[in-house]
Amino acid sequence: MSDRPHRLPDDVVPHRYDLVLEPDLQQASFDGTVTISVQVQRATDQVVLHALDLEIDGATVRVGDQEHTATVGLDAEHEMATLSLPSVLPVGPAELRLSFRGVLNDQLLGFYRSTFTSVDPATGDATESTLAVTQFESTHARRAFPCFDEPAFKAVFAVTLVVPRDQFVVANTAELERTDVGDGRVRVQFADTISMSTYLVAFVIGPLEATEPRMVEGIDGPIPLRVVYPPGNAHLCGFALDVAEAGLRFYEEYYGLPYPGDKVDLVAVPDFAFGAMENLGCITFREVLLLVDPERSTQPELQRVADVINHELAHMWFGDLVTMSWWNGIWLNEAFATFMEVMATDAFRPDWDVWTTFGLARAAAFDTDTLHATRPIEYEVVTAADAEGMFDILTYEKGASVVRMLEQYLGPKVFRDGIAAYLRRHAYGNTETADLWVALEETSGEPVRRIMDSWIFRGGHPVVRVERVDEHTIGLAQTRASYDDAGDSERWPIPMVLDVGSDGELRQLLDAATTVELAHRPEFVQANVGGAGFYRVELDAELRLALLERGDPGPLERFVLIDDTWAGYLAGRVELAEVVELLVGASATELDPSVWRRLAGACRELVRLSGPDHAAAARGLVASVAVPALARVETAIDAATGTAGVDGSGSDRHGADRSERLREVRGVLFALAGADAADAATRRRARELFQDSTVDATLQAAAIGVVAASATAEEHAVLEAAWRDAATPQDELRYLNALVDTDDPDRFTHTLELSATEVRTQNAPYLLRRAIDHPTLGPVAWDFVADRWDELTERFPSNSLPRMLEGVRGLTDASTAAAVTTFLAEHPTPSGATQITQHLERMEVEVRAAGRTRDELDRSPDVLGAARGS
Ligand code: BES
Ligand code: ZN
Repeated sequence: MSDRPHRLPDDVVPHRYDLVLEPDLQQASFDGTVTISVQVQRATDQVVLHALDLEIDGATVRVGDQEHTATVGLDAEHEMATLSLPSVLPVGPAELRLSFRGVLNDQLLGFYRSTFTSVDPATGDATESTLAVTQFESTHARRAFPCFDEPAFKAVFAVTLVVPRDQFVVANTAELERTDVGDGRVRVQFADTISMSTYLVAFVIGPLEATEPRMVEGIDGPIPLRVVYPPGNAHLCGFALDVAEAGLRFYEEYYGLPYPGDKVDLVAVPDFAFGAMENLGCITFREVLLLVDPERSTQPELQRVADVINHELAHMWFGDLVTMSWWNGIWLNEAFATFMEVMATDAFRPDWDVWTTFGLARAAAFDTDTLHATRPIEYEVVTAADAEGMFDILTYEKGASVVRMLEQYLGPKVFRDGIAAYLRRHAYGNTETADLWVALEETSGEPVRRIMDSWIFRGGHPVVRVERVDEHTIGLAQTRASYDDAGDSERWPIPMVLDVGSDGELRQLLDAATTVELAHRPEFVQANVGGAGFYRVELDAELRLALLERGDPGPLERFVLIDDTWAGYLAGRVELAEVVELLVGASATELDPSVWRRLAGACRELVRLSGPDHAAAARGLVASVAVPALARVETAIDAATGTAGVDGSGSDRHGADRSERLREVRGVLFALAGADAADAATRRRARELFQDSTVDATLQAAAIGVVAASATAEEHAVLEAAWRDAATPQDELRYLNALVDTDDPDRFTHTLELSATEVRTQNAPYLLRRAIDHPTLGPVAWDFVADRWDELTERFPSNSLPRMLEGVRGLTDASTAAAVTTFLAEHPTPSGATQITQHLERMEVEVRAAGRTRDELDRSPDVLGAARGS
């Protein structure tokens, strides 16, 4: 054991837990007993399992009809308990029985307490309510009951909860039986789960309500589907039910296997550290990602809800039915669910064009993966803390992108056949990453494992330079993407899909070869068709022109062009004038919301990089991009809906998808013109619109942001009151974010104070991330975080600290950046060290780009204006 102190020995293996828990919500504590049926594989007089922050009152081991009392030794460092027995347990079945006590903590992990206030609509009285909730991934089941808390120790769980008669309870499986225990409490017994990992066990107890079950027609019969919510939110559940119904059907069809549980409950939890958690049959969510009013939310808010539900449902099979053997495999679990969420949401709402939106996620992954401090997607995980550090953009977004690249290369049908074969083969079991590649090799005949190994065991990604070698030959040279001058000449086996005109679409594994021979002279080379590849492309001048002249790149290809150009600018390889030309040129015709989001992001970053001396000129450039485009889009909305859309009501709700997409673009442009470009007319209009809930929700949301950016004291107070009174979780977050968007240092500081007091700990770290990222007041927010570090890190869930610190990526001022680096070197966080190193390196990239931009603008201030009017 000493060579693997962080792992349990495998001489005793569990296969069933009978767990009884009696939570006391008032006292914030719980009592429990657990009987674990095990198989002793090697004779031993010691049984080691996990337990943390539990008091174990007694432990016995039964073999046949003999019962032995065990002495319990606790190892807090390794979060384990050792049961020592007076005699050796023989090989064969045995039963461990432990009784224990614990505390319902406030850390949002393990078995914890969440609170909410509800207002009685009749009397207006507010009451404070308490819930007991679980969050066990990665390694927190051990805080609720002693268990073999590693994903490969799968077992059946039979859960019984003893709770006050009037409490609502929900767990992984259907309720079997309820018996009165006499003291005002009931014993609620739940059905056996499938054999599954400890991190997927879940239960929630408290004054909640549930929708009527919707019966979803499944392969093996109807699946009861409900949303569970804090009282007062019944009207916000319909959208989630629609998404989940469609998602369940989609996955049964895609995977070719029935849903592995007996029901699905989607539970909204008021205090939740993550976004959502895929507990089998009892999926938990933060409220804003589940409860939504489709009429009053923006498309990105709605899509986020759909994506998250579909993400967690994807895990019911991929993750829950088939599970990684150890935490090094978590990337595949999360990457695959992230990939599938896009597939399922695309099937649910094809008009949303979500694969183009996915371009934004991929772009963010490129950004981090371009740093020297990037990491391989998969690496060895020794301790639990290692595993927690893996939940980042490289796991989710780079992981999902390389899965998408593979799917596009193999073809959707072959890919899906491989997935279905893998799930069938390993159902109820555990796997290594390579097991999936083996299944895909069998269905495709391609060297999947060799290709994928070099994408997942190595950090970074290639830039492919394409040039014409002679009439029928193109040359493809790889270097590693870098924000420094030159990347190393490193090679990846790239599964490419190319379009070369008359030769049509080619699938080519760019491996040892550096040239491709074509039958015809290529008219142009599109070296990343559909933008699905996880590599950047640089064309020589002639090919770039040919590609542009060919006329009709799709939205994702237009997106990629902007994103690649901006990355080139950050790396110092592309001139500012070229960037300006691209922004102005693209904005003249662009109508796709995702492409506009990327353009708006580049505009915003350009203002930031320009610095205070050139801010007016940079805002002028952004106004010249955004204001005419806004006018153009409004005209197009009028044409599409046939109504005068000045008030933004777009009253014809059936005015087709086109006008919905256009309204999204309008929201992006309204915010860009009013907040970033400080356009006076747009700011005036925002003041007419921001309190008017009869206007289109997307426009109203944009107007709130515009008002926030230049709010007077009175307006700021209105926004703050609106945050406190928000009717939906989306409104609450929208107004909360608005409170840090102010450009007034006093009001900004007031909001920072709220983040240390009144703002829920699930939201405050993200609010501070936004504050540190503020284009001008970021350094003020940084000083606040540094001054109050001990208090804040104590208060916030530990997983959120690296996310809070992500805000430093937007700092442009060298002296603040230096202070940040020094401070974080002296104040390490419990996990996420790699992410923080990445944030710091990216911050330096921003600082250098700001320095170059400001120098250039000092020398030639006309660069920003030159393209105007063209
Ligand atoms: N399994 C994760 C939640 C999780 C992450 C638990 C890290 C423990 C540690 C879940 O499936 C997930 O990925 N949730 C995301 C939301 C998702 C839609 C991207 C999250 O919580 O951010
Ligand atoms: Zn996930």
